[in-house]
Amino acid sequence: MSTIDWEALRSAADEARTHAYVPYSKFPVGAAALVDDGRIVSGCNVENASYGVTLCAECGLVSSLAMTGGGRLVAFTCVNGDGDILMPCGRCRQLLYEHSAEGMLLETVSGIRTIDEVLPDAFGPRQLAAYAAEHEND
Ligand code: THU
Repeated sequence: MSTIDWEALRSAADEARTHAYVPYSKFPVGAAALVDDGRIVSGCNVENASYGVTLCAECGLVSSLAMTGGGRLVAFTCVNGDGDILMPCGRCRQLLYEHSAEGMLLETVSGIRTIDEVLPDAFGPRQLAAYAAEHEND
């Protein structure tokens, strides 16, 4: 999709970032995505005294996606506290992949990329479905 308003997405990510709860890392993150029905969902990181329990901004975004009607993610951006583009961590690429539209685009440090480029040969729902179909009579 060539008509994506990346500036609008970035400003939604910037706004989300202002809600970040980051007393430990002091590294606020905001993420925003365009959904296939035109709405924008966003999220911020929420840390925890038990550091490993921290929720990345993308976790909030995916929760918001489900809570506001579901759908498929078409375009995504993520920013740090300076408003600079941030790559989603590996776990978050997997989170995004699950809800991605075919050819989902991400604004990355090396330009616009597809979800398949940032998570090649991904594991996803198709693998589970294929296995279940093969073993339905077991
Ligand atoms: N973080 C995110 O929110 N998303 C990412 O994709 C990368 C990392 C957060 C987690 C933690 O609160 C802070 O950035 C430093 O790792």
